[in-house]
Amino acid sequence: KHSILMDVDTGIDDALAIMFALRHPDIVVKAISCVSGNVDLDTVVDNTLKILDLMDAPQIPVAGGAVRPLIENARSAAFIHGEDGLGNVNLPATSRTPLPVHAVEMMRHVLSESSEPLTLVALAPLTNVALLLRTYPECAQKIERILFMGGSASVGNATAVAEFNIWHDPEAAHIVINSGIPLTMYGLDVFNTVGMNTQQVSSLVTAEDRVSRVLGGLLAFRAEGPESEPELALSLIGDAGAVCSLVADSGLMYRETCPVQVQLAAGASRGQTMVDRRNHVGEDTIHGTADVWPDIDIVFSADVPQVLDLFL
Ligand code: BDR
Ligand code: CA
Repeated sequence: KHSILMDVDTGIDDALAIMFALRHPDIVVKAISCVSGNVDLDTVVDNTLKILDLMDAPQIPVAGGAVRPLIENARSAAFIHGEDGLGNVNLPATSRTPLPVHAVEMMRHVLSESSEPLTLVALAPLTNVALLLRTYPECAQKIERILFMGGSASVGNATAVAEFNIWHDPEAAHIVINSGIPLTMYGLDVFNTVGMNTQQVSSLVTAEDRVSRVLGGLLAFRAEGPESEPELALSLIGDAGAVCSLVADSGLMYRETCPVQVQLAAGASRGQTMVDRRNHVGEDTIHGTADVWPDIDIVFSADVPQVLDLFL
C-alpha cells in the first residue's frame, strides 16, 4: 500500500488524479493540501471538496495553503481548465469547509502522526511543499519520496522550455529539488502522451455511472487536436498519470535517473528544468553537473494503452 499526501491545484487533471487515487485499492490518501496554481486558492479548495463529495470521500482532510508563489505573482491557467477550474462541468456546491488551518500545518500534523514515512504527491506549483520544508525541516524525515508532476527534459508548455508548475514558482521548485529527499519527476515528456481519444471519452460521457460521466465531461473539456480532424483529438489524463506511475507495474513506465536543476535566472529560460541526460563517466567536472545537481528518478515515457487501462 502507498500512503500519500496530495498537494493539488484542482484543476481538471488534478481532479482526475484525486479520483484515481481514491479508487485505487493500493493507495491511501491521508490528506489533500491545496495551493494556488491553475486557478486561485479558494476555487482550488472548493473544487477539491466538490470532487471529494462526488467520490463520497468526505473523511479526507483538506486545507488551503499558499495563495501565491514565493516570489512571482499568481498567474492563472483558467483558459485551460475553464473559468471554474473544472471544465465547467457544474458539480453541485459543497457543504463542506476546509480545515481551519494552513495547509503547511495540516501536512506537518499528518506527517508527525503517521507511524511510517509517507509519499508526497505534488501535482501543482511547489509553494506549499517548499514552505513546509523551510518551516518544519524535520518533516523531511517523514517523507519517503516526493513524486511531483512538473518540469520537462524537452518541450515546455508555459513557455517554450518551462512547464507550468515549475515556471509558476521556480524558487519553490528549487527548494524541493535540492531538499535531499528522494524525488520522482513526472514531467511533460510523458505527461503529453497519456491521453484518450474521442471515442474513449464519448463512452464515458454516456456511461450509466455518475462518476464516469463526470470523468467524461472533464476529459471532453481537455480534448485538443487539429480542428479539421476532430477524430485525432486527445484528452490528456495529465496529473492522474503521475499517480498511475506510483502503482504501475515497472514495465509500464520508462524511467531514468538524471541530474536535474531548475533555471532561476530571469529571462526566456526561467523555470526550465535542466536535465542532464549525458552518460556520466566521471570525467565531467569541467562541463559537469556531478555533486551539484541532484539525481532524480524521471519518468520519460509510458505504455499508453496499458496506463489508460489502469486509470480506467
Ligand atoms: C500542470 O499544470 C497544470 O495546468 C496541470 O494541472 C498540471 O499539473 C501541467 O503543466
Ligand atoms: Ca495540477
